[in-house]
Amino acid sequence: MPASVIVGLQWGDEGKGKTTDFLAEQVSTVVRYQGGDNAGHTIVIGDDTFKLHLVPSGVLYGHITPIIGPGVVVNPATLIREFDGLISRGIDISKVRVSHAAHLILPYHVALDKARESALAGDKVGTTQRGIGPAYEDRAARLGLRVEDLLDPASTAARLARAIPEKRALLAALGATDYADAVDADAIAALIATWGERLRPHIADTNDLVQRAYTRKEHLLFEGAQGAMLDLDHGSYPFVTSSHPIAGGATTGGGIAPLQIDEVMGVMKAYATRVGSGPFVTELTDAIGERIAVTGHEVGTTTGRRRRVGWNDAVPLRYAVELNGVSSIMLNKLDVLSGIPEILLCVAYEIDGKRVERWPASAAELARAKPIYETFPGWEQEITSVRAMADLPENARRYVTALEEIAGAPIVLLSVGPERTQTIERAWRPLRHAKR
Ligand code: GDP
Ligand code: IMO
Ligand code: MG
Repeated sequence: MPASVIVGLQWGDEGKGKTTDFLAEQVSTVVRYQGGDNAGHTIVIGDDTFKLHLVPSGVLYGHITPIIGPGVVVNPATLIREFDGLISRGIDISKVRVSHAAHLILPYHVALDKARESALAGDKVGTTQRGIGPAYEDRAARLGLRVEDLLDPASTAARLARAIPEKRALLAALGATDYADAVDADAIAALIATWGERLRPHIADTNDLVQRAYTRKEHLLFEGAQGAMLDLDHGSYPFVTSSHPIAGGATTGGGIAPLQIDEVMGVMKAYATRVGSGPFVTELTDAIGERIAVTGHEVGTTTGRRRRVGWNDAVPLRYAVELNGVSSIMLNKLDVLSGIPEILLCVAYEIDGKRVERWPASAAELARAKPIYETFPGWEQEITSVRAMADLPENARRYVTALEEIAGAPIVLLSVGPERTQTIERAWRPLRHAKR
């Protein structure tokens, strides 16, 4: 089984870090293929918690080559900070490789992200303010600096001289203040030189590393960030991120070809969350929502913002399973629903008096959608120590089976707590799409 993609099926924070870490033991290479330090992936091993933003979640295993692929936008300051944090905890980061072709997030990208959000006032996207969108904009405009430029100060100076006047004008037009440091070419050039020295041993042609590992028949894992419903093209635009979290993103951003992918594991929570603005048809603003948020510790890993919470929604789920060609699913956070008397699952929307099962094609229709729920009886028991599907309470099994039927792909892994071993593994993992 040479190549697996792990992809979020909701709005991010589905537990992809836990899933990647759980599966990483059996693989040689873990590749991040998009996004940047907007991601926050949590891994819990015993009493130790690791929160990773840029470094792939396989880093905790010594045998793995963690790769940051060309589709990722890299803030070198964050990466170096993350390296230092891991080193101080005894984790070996010497094998981490960063694509020479990945684009850099520079101080003016962060300033622009903040300035754009302020200018949007009431219509904010609710970004993580890490400069993700502006860095991807520069990539598309062919104005960006890439990781390889960290090693080439002469070309860097020329490219900064081209980019900075435009950034200064944009920041001024957006009404930004206090941005002088973010557009100081000399200061940025000095930072780049320092970053280059530190990151030099990690910079590589990662496409070559991926393809060589593939040829050796090693197992590669592609770790998505964010989730399908935050995809730039396929999510609820404009309340999306600026990259392609869907499984297809692994081909453009990870260096693997479509027919080399054997497995797409979708990751979802037992309920739904969303951080930032945008439509959320099943959002809960009542005491049950509060209870789930508190029990599930639904606070953003990157920004510390409280996540919005809602019931699980089959409409985007079916869409995400289709769009990603999901072959199997890991269902996380089932334990968080213990003790809730009734669990609701949105099976369709009512839009203008009609029942709709497909994800609406227009933002205006989505805004008018009301959830149609099916109700499932809950279960009282704590399930954090359960390690076999058969030992789950009957009502929990019923809910899992209903989700599986609605998704149209088998739930092969179930998580009942944040810790690595709080995982129920079912017997098999199908390759390719379940419906074929
Ligand atoms: P990611 O961005 O998809 O990797 O997810 P995050 O790490 O941002 O958020 C998921 C949170 O849920 C983390 O704090 C995890 O430690 C935690 N988590 C993962 N699986 C479970 C689970 O099955 N039960 C509980 N209670 N927490 C979980
Ligand atoms: P992980 O990988 C949840 C959301 C932001 C905002 C939108 C755009 O941990 O699942 P951006 O900074 O990317 O321009 O923000 O996307 N967002 C996430 N939400 N989990 C994430 O990552 C996210 N990364 C971005 O909240 O709504
Ligand atoms: Mg996260």
